[in-house]
Parts: sequence; C-alpha cells; structure tokens
Amino acid sequence: DKGNHKHFMAKEIHEQPTVVAYALGHYIDQARNLVAEAAMNVDFSRADRIVLVACGTGHYACHVAKYWFEQVARVPVEIDIASEFRYRDPVLTGREVAIFVSQSGETADTLAALRHARGRVGRAVSVVNVPESSIARESDVALPILAGAEISVASTKAFTCQLTVLASLAILAGRQRGTIDTAGEQELVRALSSAPGALARALAIEADIAPFSMELARARDVLFLGRGSMYPLALEGALKLKELSYIHAEGYASGELKHGPIALIDEDVPVIVLAPRDALFEKTVSNMQEVMARGGRIVLVTDAEGARQAGNEAWATLVMPDVHPFIAPLVYAVPAQLIAYYSAMAKGTDVDQPRNLAKSVTVE
Ligand code: F6R
Repeated sequence: DKGNHKHFMAKEIHEQPTVVAYALGHYIDQARNLVAEAAMNVDFSRADRIVLVACGTGHYACHVAKYWFEQVARVPVEIDIASEFRYRDPVLTGREVAIFVSQSGETADTLAALRHARGRVGRAVSVVNVPESSIARESDVALPILAGAEISVASTKAFTCQLTVLASLAILAGRQRGTIDTAGEQELVRALSSAPGALARALAIEADIAPFSMELARARDVLFLGRGSMYPLALEGALKLKELSYIHAEGYASGELKHGPIALIDEDVPVIVLAPRDALFEKTVSNMQEVMARGGRIVLVTDAEGARQAGNEAWATLVMPDVHPFIAPLVYAVPAQLIAYYSAMAKGTDVDQPRNLAKSVTVE
C-alpha cells in the first residue's frame, strides 16, 4: 500500500523520520542518553580492526561508518565491496569484527563474503532488514535495522536505518575502547536522537527540489561532490540518480576534482555539492569556484550558514536544516534521494522498478 504517495519510493523516503526513530528506540537508551549495549551484543574491545562488507547502497553506508568508527573509536577500519572481499583472499587475523550490511539479507556476493569470513574473523556481525534472511541466520550476531518492508528497488529508508545501527555500533565501540567518556557518548547519542526531527525538517526541501530536478533531468552527465562523510553521500547520490533516471552520474571526493574529473566540466554538466558548513567548508567553496570558472552549474546543498558564506553564485542552493555533524550523513541522504526521485519523474522512468534491476541480487 503506497498510502497517499505516487510511488513506494516516495512513501519510503517519507517514512524515514518514523523508522529511524523506531530503530533508535531499539539501539539507544533514551532515558540515559547512552547506547543500548545489550541490544548489540558485540565486543569491540579486543578487535585489531573493523571490516565492513556490503554491496551498492549498503557499501556506501559502510563507507560513512568508516568515518564514524575511526573518529569515535580510533580503530582501523577497512571497507570492502562484497564481491571484491570474497575473491581477493583478504588478510584476516582472527581478531577483527567483520560487519556485513544487507537490506535483503540474501545478496549472493555478501552471503559468499560472510561464508568466507566465518571462522576466519573474530566475530561476524550482520546488519540486515530481513531478520529471517540467510545472512542474518549465518552470522554470529544479527542486528535488525527495523526499517519495515522496503518495496522500491532503490534503497532509501534501509540506508538511513543502516546508518542508525552503524552509528550506534561506532559509539559502543568508542565506549568499549575507552576513546569516549560518558559525556562524549551522551553528546553523540543526543545528536543521533535528533535525527528523526532533522530528517522531517530535511523533507521540507522537497518543494525546492522538484522544480530544478526538471532542469537536471535534461543533463547527460551529473557530478556529485562531497568531503569527509559527505563523500560517500556523493557516491550514493550518484548511484540513486543513475539507477532511477538513467542519467550518467559520478560521485567524487571534492578534493579529487582537480585530479581529473574537472576536465568534464562545462555548462552542460551540473555539479551537485553536498556540503554542510563545517571545518572543510572553505575548501569546498574553492572547489565550487573552480567549477564555476569553467562555466559549470553548481547545485549547492548546505545549511543556512553555508548558503550565506557561499554567496549566491550557485545555479541552485538547497538550504538544509542545521544539524550536528555526526548525523549529517543521515540527513543529507534525503536531498540525494529526492533529487533522483524527481529527476526520474521528470524523465518518466519506472521509479519503483528501474530497468535491469532487481530488489535482491541472488546471483554472484
Ligand atoms: C541501490 C540498491 C542496491 C542494493 C544492493 C545491495 O539503491 O538498492 O545497490 O543496495 O544490491 O542489496 P542488499 O542491501 O539487499 O544486500
């Protein structure tokens, strides 16, 4: 049932405040502003590193989690695409916590990676939406993301719920490894608890996205840029746009622009910059100026302060709510999803069932 939405994808995008709140209810002790250790049952204290493995959108959730685990728990993190992990015979010590992320829990590459890892890693944890799935059953610990059924082939609410669970795990790892104290844990948990409200406010930019997406839908190529934990969001934005609207899109770390992709820039290649105002914002503004100097059209997705600092040279500016930097990756998923959704609508593609794609990829 799509409710009053035109597509399952729209419904699932709009469910995010609710499902993220629901997942937080499971992973966070809201009375004390601490993570709920018992709900996770993972011990990071003796891990020599964390290995995160998934495909597609799940892989980008892992990529965000790498920033979180490193920042909060000061533990080395490797991220891998499941099909690469499985076949490159990774060096495993038996002391790592390996985390397998999959919405369906049936993705063949991720399942094969899990089977390869079982017995070779310290602990194999899965982060899944379908609790009775193969990946959930075969892992040492299965953590549900509690997103509810995701019908649209393009993953949206599963991504933000995966991030919710991974953020909770990163905070737990920080506690167990002594890299954050109780006050530090409470600050991060409070930030995480503000995510449902921030997601609801982010959804309000829908009215601004629809008009310029009509314009964007005429592009043949689109670039997405982001720094730090916005870099994986740029990758996710590009993936969503490709799969839904069949427009060629690439995500790049903003600093990489000048190392090659800037050669693509002209007035026909829109560049979408995901950049909340943070310590790196000025560097991002100078990347934007490089693009504009070459006639490129910038869509800046930022907060009010970022919009003020950047001036009004951008082709379009989407003003997002102010959020704690820790949860920015969850909140900036919304514009990434909505840009793809409205571009697809403008092109008239099959939003819930894009060509050549299946909801669960059970072949390697
Ligand atoms: C993108 C998308 C795919 C899946 C990937 C992994 O919108 O849906 O990239 O994320 O096929 O699927 P799961 O998470 O079921 O293992």
